[in-house]
Amino acid sequence: MNRPLLNRRLAGLGTTIFAEMSELAVATGSVNLGQGFPDTDGPAEIARAAADAILAGRGNQYPPGAGIPQLREAISEHQRRFYDLAVDPDGEVLVTAGATEAIAAALLALVEPGDEVIAFEPYYDSYAACIAMAGGVRVPVTLRAPGFRPDLDELRAAFTSRTRLILLNSPHNPTGSVFTRAELTAIAELACAHDLLVISDEVYEHMVFTGDHVPVASLPGMRERTVSISSAAKTFSFTGWKIGWVTGTREIVSAVRTVKQFLTYVSGGPFQYAIAQALALPDEYYRSIGANLAVKRDLMCDGLAAAGFDVYRPDGTYFIMTDIRPFGEVSGLEFCRKLPYEAGVVAIPSVVFYDNSEAGQSQVRFAFCKKEEVLAEALARLAGMRPSG
Ligand SMILES: Cc1ncc(COP(=O)(O)O)c(C=O)c1O
Repeated sequence: MNRPLLNRRLAGLGTTIFAEMSELAVATGSVNLGQGFPDTDGPAEIARAAADAILAGRGNQYPPGAGIPQLREAISEHQRRFYDLAVDPDGEVLVTAGATEAIAAALLALVEPGDEVIAFEPYYDSYAACIAMAGGVRVPVTLRAPGFRPDLDELRAAFTSRTRLILLNSPHNPTGSVFTRAELTAIAELACAHDLLVISDEVYEHMVFTGDHVPVASLPGMRERTVSISSAAKTFSFTGWKIGWVTGTREIVSAVRTVKQFLTYVSGGPFQYAIAQALALPDEYYRSIGANLAVKRDLMCDGLAAAGFDVYRPDGTYFIMTDIRPFGEVSGLEFCRKLPYEAGVVAIPSVVFYDNSEAGQSQVRFAFCKKEEVLAEALARLAGMRPSG
């Protein structure tokens, strides 16, 4: 067979860095602050609800394609409770196999081959792959250190007659930037002026330390053009359950659902019952997410700065972007490949999140969704490193 096996749209996008770093972590006994998943499960009562659902025979056979009514109602109630957004559980909510499937299904549904998709880089790695699968052309607009704020002039310059949509992610992985209401309003005005759709990935909506999370769908003119995406993975610390969702107008949800039908058809039945219960947890639970993470953020930011990194303190998410130039290093990739051997810690070279690799060359991302003692151990190991200058 002399033809490459992988569809050429995807060639070069299957980044193996996460697998490489996880393998390095195991091989070297390193503290793994690479991939973003917590080392503590979510609430025991919610885990029990999933187990009960399985044993009681709820959701063990194909659940409804759009998601079970209880979960769709809970998602609708969540949007009302936190953002005063009205979404009809019957037709304006779709349950997906995590936010990952929601992103894929939305892009496959809405993007025609040749359409341009504007996304702020660095970006979550599935964006590039899903735009490619849809035959779209990605047009990156770079968020630059230290603030990683959206540059509206650069955004304006990115529009062409082929622009189909803007893909937003706030709170933003991997920079931890939280777009302000003013920034989102400016982006929304441009989307309206150019008659564009917006896909808004809000999986870190409850992980904000400074400012507030503003769903772009709540801004004037945006409800009818926004595909809002979120997930139970981060909010409830059950990343393995893969329960996500899309909210939007009936037309948007129906388009995305058509693709979902042929990707997975339905998503994890018993978990849907448990997440319906989780979404109704009291305010105290939601407050505790940010409060607990803020302590870890401060611990990590201070420790990384003391170890010699340039640290960009995040306003949200559970990631910290750093720069390694104070160590006399310029390649985050080489640095991350050495770090497990030299310090016993694994991080991710942020260059993998960029198209414009110049911008991210010397950046390294650390995840801090780990137990405090694990973070303290990582910091103790990193403290032995010293900047060159
Ligand atoms: C920005 C962003 N979107 C989506 C996802 C995926 O969410 P899920 O696990 O629900 O598929 C992640 C996971 O890391 C993420 O960081």
